[in-house]
Amino acid sequence: MGYVVTVKAPGKVILYGEHAVVYGEPALAMAVNKYVYVTAKVRDDGKIGINAMDLKLAGLSVTILENGDIVARTDYGAVISALSYVKRALEIAMEYVGKRVGVDLLIRSEMPVGAGLGTSAAVAVATILAYVKALGYDIDKRELARLAWQVEKDVQGAASPTDTTMATFGGLIYIKPEGNSVIMEPVKPGTEIPLVIGYTPRVSTTKELVAMVRRKLESMRDVIEPIIKTIGVITRRGREALEKGDLELMGTLMNINHGLLDSLGVSTRQLNEMVYAARSAGALGSKLTGAGGGGCMIALSDKVDVERAIELIGGSVLSARLDSEGARVIDDKSLPTLI
Ligand code: MEV
Repeated sequence: MGYVVTVKAPGKVILYGEHAVVYGEPALAMAVNKYVYVTAKVRDDGKIGINAMDLKLAGLSVTILENGDIVARTDYGAVISALSYVKRALEIAMEYVGKRVGVDLLIRSEMPVGAGLGTSAAVAVATILAYVKALGYDIDKRELARLAWQVEKDVQGAASPTDTTMATFGGLIYIKPEGNSVIMEPVKPGTEIPLVIGYTPRVSTTKELVAMVRRKLESMRDVIEPIIKTIGVITRRGREALEKGDLELMGTLMNINHGLLDSLGVSTRQLNEMVYAARSAGALGSKLTGAGGGGCMIALSDKVDVERAIELIGGSVLSARLDSEGARVIDDKSLPTLI
């Protein structure tokens, strides 16, 4: 006997430390109150139905060529890719409960897919939790995080546990690579952290950007290594500022972190314009977040002016706060009628 269950799992941003974390420096991640929702309803014919109604796209870019042709690029591929996480998550959830029962899944997202907000991890976490709960079973969060990380590794070939940890547990997490493992320490903020997230279509993948930084490091170690180490120092200072609730210092450190990421070559002109527009409109600090190459930036601000300034540059905007609970079942009576 099964039920109709709706689950939500949060996305995340990286406040400090992206790229440097690949070389053993710490990073600080924050789960945000923007969610992937998965509703699961058991079917009695054993089939799987997937209805991905609202996987927001990071954007549409249109170019008009000299000969008048119009070329449109969408992130449609990102939606298809999100569905491969759903498929693998279902297989892993079926192994966990020890049986294969058909379900209808309804998947919605408040975040753009493929923009660096951890949507694929949130999809994996929410799909596993919804399936397990719809069949009347329980799963503890450590096991949920482990299985969702396995989904990411199986689909991508390799993955850090950061995004699946954030989507499962929520909160603020200080990530410290230690040899082959990663230590994750929960951090208690001294104040509320108001964020505006701006996003644009991505022009490069995380894999390409990480490889590009590695090439730079290998060819100019004396120049690049100090930059990476300084990003590590910024993350440690950023954690202290966060614990003390010193938003001004947090903002200043974000600005410096962005400058260093730009110097590594992972920003884009549009991301830079959004970052500077946010500061001119009164944000305490702003930086790209995630791998760069388009995708997302964050501004430390609760001002509508900052949102408008980012939109004027052509970015789409989400305003976000901390999610401190992570993945959970929600009481959403309206959804079951949709599937
Ligand atoms: C991407 O969100 C963060 C990077 O540091 C890559 C990684 O840590 O795997 C760029």
